[in-house]
Amino acid sequence: MFQAQATQTVNDLSPSRYVQHRDELVRAFRDVRQRTLTLTAPLSAEDMQLQSMPDASPGKWHLAHTTWFFEAFILQQHLPGFAWHEPAYARLYNSYYNAMGEQYPRPARGLLSRPSLDEVRHYRHAVEEAMAELLGTCADRVLAAIAPLLVLGINHEQQHQELILTDIKHAMYRNPTYPALFERPAAAGAGELRWLAVEGGVSHAGFDGGGFCFDNELPRHPVLLTDFHIANRPVNNAEWLEFMNDGAYREPLLWLSDGWSWRQENHVSAPLYWLRRDGDWQQFTLAGLQPLDLAAPVTHVSYYEADAYARWSGQRLPTEFEWEHAARSLGSPGPGADGAHCWEWTASPYMAYPGFRPASGNVGEYNGKFMINQMVLRGASRATAHGHSRPSYRNFFYPDARWQYSGLRLLRTDA
Ligand SMILES: [Fe+2]
Repeated sequence: MFQAQATQTVNDLSPSRYVQHRDELVRAFRDVRQRTLTLTAPLSAEDMQLQSMPDASPGKWHLAHTTWFFEAFILQQHLPGFAWHEPAYARLYNSYYNAMGEQYPRPARGLLSRPSLDEVRHYRHAVEEAMAELLGTCADRVLAAIAPLLVLGINHEQQHQELILTDIKHAMYRNPTYPALFERPAAAGAGELRWLAVEGGVSHAGFDGGGFCFDNELPRHPVLLTDFHIANRPVNNAEWLEFMNDGAYREPLLWLSDGWSWRQENHVSAPLYWLRRDGDWQQFTLAGLQPLDLAAPVTHVSYYEADAYARWSGQRLPTEFEWEHAARSLGSPGPGADGAHCWEWTASPYMAYPGFRPASGNVGEYNGKFMINQMVLRGASRATAHGHSRPSYRNFFYPDARWQYSGLRLLRTDA
């Protein structure tokens, strides 16, 4: 949905070389901040206030929280004498960092009509100017200390850019006029399903580059894999319709126990955002209500649904290690190829890699403390900033989550 050249450039830099690339760091910072504003430009102040469920946050909150991140982790720690732009924001816009103090309750973020959207935009601007001043004038030793946090903050803001889109989509779906916020994107022709052979053996999972990665992608470690075949593309909407038309949502033998309970309690019989109108399936998108695109990857399904589909098809979901190994060894087409349109549920629980150590300091709360009861998704979606993901990237959500662009790819067991 958008490009991210400047971010890609700094993500490729080795941290030991940050100090020699001061200008690129400033450019990437400015670039990611501007992109957030560009992305939210079509949204009104009323749109930016909406919170449709506890998991989703108002657009206005995302604007402020991504700003808080730079203010709390960089300006407060590394700019002597810097005063909070507004002391109350330290609590309002702290998401979940217990070591950074108290937090305003997440499910109630939509109640924060004050500060206004204009005040939040002013907050963004003030922090940006303070950051640019610091980055442009600080000593090299200070830059060496803050640059890793800056690059983390840039990647953090990209993650929130995706959440801005998925959160507002969820909110707009509650509006029976099904508003269109953006232009309809070009259809994604997924093509024929083919099975790609991948040789197993001892593979290595985890980040292997010299640049930026999140702490949860480390340490790189060996994993033993058998040979397998993996689909050249994710499951598409036409295939999902076959699953539905075969009565699979009503067949208990296809479902995990938790999944069956979830399906019953929530009366689930189709992916989120699918609507039956005059006998035809339609799909709510950021471009409003559209005819179901049969060739496009199915999205907005839970882990439970993905798992049931895999069982129904006689195949299974890849583990995150199989997925990563296939992405590295196959290139395109295959997992992680350019043009990916959905995050892909894997069969792997989100756990620490052997020897995992959280990032040092208070940003250590970023990933590690969530390594319980969630499942790993790999790839990237149509809402992910270009260049943000990579083969070792680990996204994670609870198994019942559906408001992300989550789909699946099959691994063949009968080859
Ligand atoms: Fe965040």
